[in-house]
Formats: sequence, structure tokens, C-alpha cells
Amino acid sequence: MMHSLNLKACCLLALCALAASCGGGTGAPPDTGGTPAGQAYYAEKHRPQFHFSPKEKWTNDPNGMVYFDGEYHLFYQHYPDSNVWGPMHWGHAVSKDLVHWEHLPIALYPDSLGYIFSGSAVVDWKNTTGFGDGGQPPLVAIYTYHDAAAAKAGSESHQSQAIAYSNDRGRTWTKYEGNPVLPNPGGVRDIRDPKVIWDDDSGQWVMVLAVGDHAGFWGSPDLKNWKKLGEFGKTLGAHGGVWECPDLFPMTVEGTGEKMWALIINLNPGNPNGGSGTQYFIGRFDGKTFTPDPAFLPYVQGGKGVWLDYGKDNYAGVTWSDAPDGRRLLIGWMSNWQYANKVPTGAWRNAMTVPWSLSLRKTDEGYRIFPQPAKELETLRTATHSLGKTEVDRRLDLTGQLGFSPRLSEMELEFTLPEDAAGSFGVELSNSRGEIYRIGYNASTNQFFSDRTKAGDASFSEDFARQSSVAPRFSTDKTLRLHLFFDAASAELFADGGATVMTEIFFPGEDFNQVSLFAEGGKVELAGGKVHQLKSIWQ
Ligand code: FRU
Repeated sequence: MMHSLNLKACCLLALCALAASCGGGTGAPPDTGGTPAGQAYYAEKHRPQFHFSPKEKWTNDPNGMVYFDGEYHLFYQHYPDSNVWGPMHWGHAVSKDLVHWEHLPIALYPDSLGYIFSGSAVVDWKNTTGFGDGGQPPLVAIYTYHDAAAAKAGSESHQSQAIAYSNDRGRTWTKYEGNPVLPNPGGVRDIRDPKVIWDDDSGQWVMVLAVGDHAGFWGSPDLKNWKKLGEFGKTLGAHGGVWECPDLFPMTVEGTGEKMWALIINLNPGNPNGGSGTQYFIGRFDGKTFTPDPAFLPYVQGGKGVWLDYGKDNYAGVTWSDAPDGRRLLIGWMSNWQYANKVPTGAWRNAMTVPWSLSLRKTDEGYRIFPQPAKELETLRTATHSLGKTEVDRRLDLTGQLGFSPRLSEMELEFTLPEDAAGSFGVELSNSRGEIYRIGYNASTNQFFSDRTKAGDASFSEDFARQSSVAPRFSTDKTLRLHLFFDAASAELFADGGATVMTEIFFPGEDFNQVSLFAEGGKVELAGGKVHQLKSIWQ
């Protein structure tokens, strides 16, 4: 569909008010971090440029994230023989800066006990396992075996938990001969995705598992012997589908120093916008079980959930063990089980979100997690344009005025809401094919939205672009902040400082190379902002 650009000249005057900070200048072609001619590495159509994706073939969940000896490890569900889901392995990459990734050989292969499903990894600092071989503590991976043959034969006991260790900084792994360390209790169909932490207060390893419709907790002195501690969630939270990929960790409340616990639960389906999604609970963990904070309860009763990300494409997110400086860093799988096997990419299929840094704040509704893009992403900025105060009356073309391309970009925008705000406004990406992606805020519904219904190829699944995804606005501030990241095939929105987050993918027929601000059903004031051109992490 063609879209007529209704440029309002009056709106452009205030752009780039701080000319000195327009790092790229307005005349020079933007450095979009594009692929030099003839270079094929990570240059395929739709290939994410600042998100992690495997060099080739299939990925789903991020696994085993742990920081050790100067490296962030990222393992991932991987099928090296095809670009659709199959016998799961753990692929492996490491990063020194959380932004650039080095591919390493596959860490864990399926064996006679089953496929290697999702799980976590820890540094066994005290060598409680005895796997250490002297100087350095071992890395220990805790994962689920999924016995596909047994499942096919009708077994309901085909998932069990197992461990493997490495004494060479994760380069090679040995599976424990005593596996599984936690056999299936018998007839429990869905019991998987162990996330393990060391709990100082109870002096033990604590494992949280997704068990069908709830989370179960187990404790161990040595990662080999596990005892059931408690369970949570059968009657709380969203239950649209099976619970998967849990995470449990302490968080310090910003500003007060109070210690609370976060319990992340992924579930499929159940996302309010359809398909797979991620909910969480804030409460207390007493070494046995999790109790939600009383103020959290009204939001998770009657099948309701509190969501980490309201977009359709952030699933299976869990956090790094031992991240430096007490940070709580999370990465998710940037897709949705509704269509992950069918998205129109060839060499590889699916990618991860940008890494997040989580903080916990006390709000009027109780404790809430505020995700922020990891600050390390700032190193990808190649040019910055400052935007001054200006009125957006229908359209404000940023590309024409600044030479700014949305392909590989970051935008930090502040809008002042009019008293009687009724229309919608936001950011529009487009290309010469007339394809359009819009993300923004609708004042009449008080919702953020991500609209990919006209953003390119959606033919692979009816569920992909049936309608816009929407998310509530929680803040009542008159200043509305949109912090956006656009890669070749994705948008990530951190609104109001992380109070609402949306992650969505798209597949335009050609890259989006035009960006404008739009206002429909009324004008809106851009109070100011910054837009950054980003570079690729792969070139
Ligand atoms: C979540 C999930 C996990 C499982 C893995 C299998 O996306 O279904 O529960 O371990 O994927 O690949």
C-alpha cells in the first residue's frame, strides 16, 4: 500500500536545535553499519545486525547464561541440521562486552538420555560438586533431558534433570556419569528448564523448575542430590498454557535497599497479544517456597498476569548468573512459538533480544521490574542528532531532514501529552515499497501499540500480523518517554523508563530506510530527544 507523506515544513525548524551535537552532520550519508559490498557474513536479508543470532540454522531459548573470568556466556537451544526445531543441542557463544559475540563450538549434544532442553549454568565457586580440578572453580550446566523416543512411545516420564561441567572456561563439557540427577517423579509430562542459584540465606543450591501449571523448588548441597522444597503458582498468575523457563533471583529495591525476590515464568500460550509470553511475580523466598507480596496479589488473581514484555516476540528470557557489579541482566528469545518455525529467513532462524538490565521499583501498584537496555549498547552509536522542542502535526520527517536512517537505530523521545489527548502518535518506519511499521501511544485507549500489519511479509502465519499488539500505559506522567531500538527485522520499545516494554519482529520486503514521527487525531508536542545511528556488531 502507498502512503502519502504529508510533510509539515513548520515542524522541522526545531530539529537538531543543538547542531553541535549532530555527530554525523546532516549532509553525510548515515553510517548505518551496513554490509560492505561483496561481504556476505551476517549480511543476508532480515539478518539482525546488533542482536545475537546463530551463524546458521535454528535457535530458540537462551540457555546457561553465566559470567565467568571476563566472559558472558550465552548458550542457546540449537538444531544444527535444520532451520526448524528438532533434536536440541546447546549452541554456545561468548562476549567480553555483552554486545559483540564470538561463536564457539556446540557445547552439549543430545545422547541416549534425550535431547538437551533448556537450563542454566553456575560457577561452582566452592567446588561443592568436586568437579573442579584444582585452581579454578568448575562451570556447571544444569539442563533438562527430553527423551523424544519415550515421549513418542507414550511415556509421561520422559523429562528429567541433568548436569555437565567444564574446567576450561566452558570450551568443553563433560556430562556427569550419575545423570539424571533429578529423575522424573513419575508421570509428570512437563517438568523442565532448571534455573539454579546459590541461596546464601539457606546455604544451598536452589533449583526452580517449570512443572506444567506451577513452579517447583528443589534444594541441594552439591548440585547432584536434590530434595523438593516447595511449589508455587497453581492458582496464581496467567495459565493460558504450560509454564516454562522459570527464573528466581533476589533484587534490591531501588532507593530503599530492601531485598525482594523475583520469579519469572514463561508460558506458552498465554501472552495477552497471543502466543508465548513472559510473566513475573515479586515476593519473598524463604528457602523453601515463594510467597508473592500482598500488594502484587490483585494483579495475578483470577488468571491475570504481570508481564515483563507486552510485545509478541520476547520469550524464554532468563538472567545471567554472577553478572558483575550486582547487575541483573536478562536476554530473551526474540520470537513466538506461534510462528517461530515459519519466519521468512533462510540460513538461520530466530535471534535474541538486546540484553536488558533489570531494576526493581516500588510503584503505586506495588513492586515492579523496570527493564532497561544494557548500557553497553551505547558503544554501538556512530552518530547522534539532538531534536529540539517541536510540534508534531501529522508528520515530521526525520530521514529527509537529518539523513537519519532507521535501519540500525536508537531513538530517545520525550513527548508532552496535551490536556485532552485523544489521538495517537509515535514513530513510523517505511520503505519505497510502501511498507509501514508503526509503534507509539494511543491516548484514547491509554495504550502503547506496535503495528506490523502493513510492515512486509506476514504470509507465513495468520497469527503474525492479525492486528496491532497493545500494552497498557502505567505512568500518569504528562511527559511520555519512548526509548526505541530498530534493527533490520525488529523493534524494541522501553516506554516510561521501562514501565512498559514491547518487543516485536517484522520482515519488510526491503529494509526500512525512512523514519518519521506521526500524530493522528490531534497534534502532540515533542519535548525533545536524541536519535542515534548504530553500527553492526558483526561487521
Ligand atoms: C521453551 C521450551 C522449553 C524447552 C525448550 C525446548 O521455548 O519449550 O520449555 O526446554 O523450549 O527447545
